[in-house]
Amino acid sequence: MWKNLLDWIEYRIPMMRVANMHAIQYPAPRNMNFWYVFGFLATIVLVNQIVTGIWLTMSFEPSAERAFASVEYIMRDVEYGWILRYMHSTGASAFFIVVYLHMFRGMMYGSYQKPRELLWLFGMFIYLALMAEAFMGYVLPWGQMSYWGAQVIVSLFGAIPVIGEDLVIWIQGDYVISGATLNRFFALHVIALPLVIVILVFLHIVALHEVGSNNPDGVEVKRPKGSLKEEDKTKFAMHEYYTKKYDIIDDVVPFFPHIVLKDLVAFCVFLALFCYVLFFNPEMGGYFLEHPNFEIANPLKTPEHIFPVWYFTPFYAILKAVPDKLGGVIAMFAAIIALALLPWIDRGKVRSWRYRCGLHKWNLLVFAGVFIFLGYLGGTPQENWKIIASQILTVMYFGFFGLLWMYSKNENTKPVPERITK
Ligand code: HEM
Repeated sequence: MWKNLLDWIEYRIPMMRVANMHAIQYPAPRNMNFWYVFGFLATIVLVNQIVTGIWLTMSFEPSAERAFASVEYIMRDVEYGWILRYMHSTGASAFFIVVYLHMFRGMMYGSYQKPRELLWLFGMFIYLALMAEAFMGYVLPWGQMSYWGAQVIVSLFGAIPVIGEDLVIWIQGDYVISGATLNRFFALHVIALPLVIVILVFLHIVALHEVGSNNPDGVEVKRPKGSLKEEDKTKFAMHEYYTKKYDIIDDVVPFFPHIVLKDLVAFCVFLALFCYVLFFNPEMGGYFLEHPNFEIANPLKTPEHIFPVWYFTPFYAILKAVPDKLGGVIAMFAAIIALALLPWIDRGKVRSWRYRCGLHKWNLLVFAGVFIFLGYLGGTPQENWKIIASQILTVMYFGFFGLLWMYSKNENTKPVPERITK
């Protein structure tokens, strides 16, 4: 009876076919390592944010008069409200940790190179939407940092010539940051942006599965049809979808159970770390929840220091490094656009840093260091030396892309293996 029911459904909607193609039998390169778990973890965090967000929305009141008090109510009176709120606030930071590692993996193994440019671009759009989502979410509890952070960020649009001032008023829905601003940010945070993010993640996965996963060696596991010897072809019968276009080399394993098991191990480790923060250190020393935000928004009292949350601080440091406001805004956006253009800035033919020149490895590691150091500078009180340091580091940030563009054209690479090495 059970089989009959499944057949009945399958005849009308390709449930098992899709599950086989995109999950159970998806051909995954067998050398996928630790760095390949972060896409899965990002998906888990996305689900966590949506589910806990729905429950928070049931008790949150999006008005300047009630927002702060309703968060206190959730923390103290709503059953399990505290755990829902901390799952959501910890999830926000976890999202960025996981996504930054996910992006760095892509840079190490050249996963943005042909034919995965669109996959990377979808990723960058997700990243932008995620930043907007996190920013608006942070305004909702209507604490001091919510208010003044919004003030700083929204006023940046005022630096745009001609339309700037009108644009600020349009975004705020008022002449100042007010309840109207809070209300529209709530609408965008709970429905518009999550919808955009979910659609983008769907497209991200579709794009990934069309071209197939890259791997730490950066060699393709699928080759143009007819170009492979019979013994090199995979024995799996699962590639009906792919074999129309490609031959798949025998270096893949079915996603279930091989990759699922790896992802489960990662999930357990992630859960342990997540629970540690959730139960023992939800504020994370003021990094995940900033201390001034435990005080209600007060337009008459500017906090001594205004910083964004840690995941924005590298870009905040770049913004501050340029003395001119418009120049700072341009530099900040250019920093994100440069990342999005990586597939075209990198003119190399070899993907993985394992087989690229020594300079490339150093360039990438220094870039990661520069990004972290910029994050430190953008998240601590300004001092003279820090302004100079952030200017030097901003130049180094862009220097990464300039250097890459130059050396990648005629790079001295190591011989790339024909097939996955181990
Ligand atoms: C909500 C955020 C995101 C989710 C849920 C997500 C999900 C995934 C998943 C499930 C995979 C396949 C598993 C893996 O390779 O780890 C993947 C691969 C990939 N993602 Fe994302 N992703 C997100 C954000 C991003 C961002 C911000 C970028 C970069 C701009 C990005 C770039 C990539 C690339 C290049 C791959 C292919 C990697 C390879 O095959 O080597 N993703 N993503």
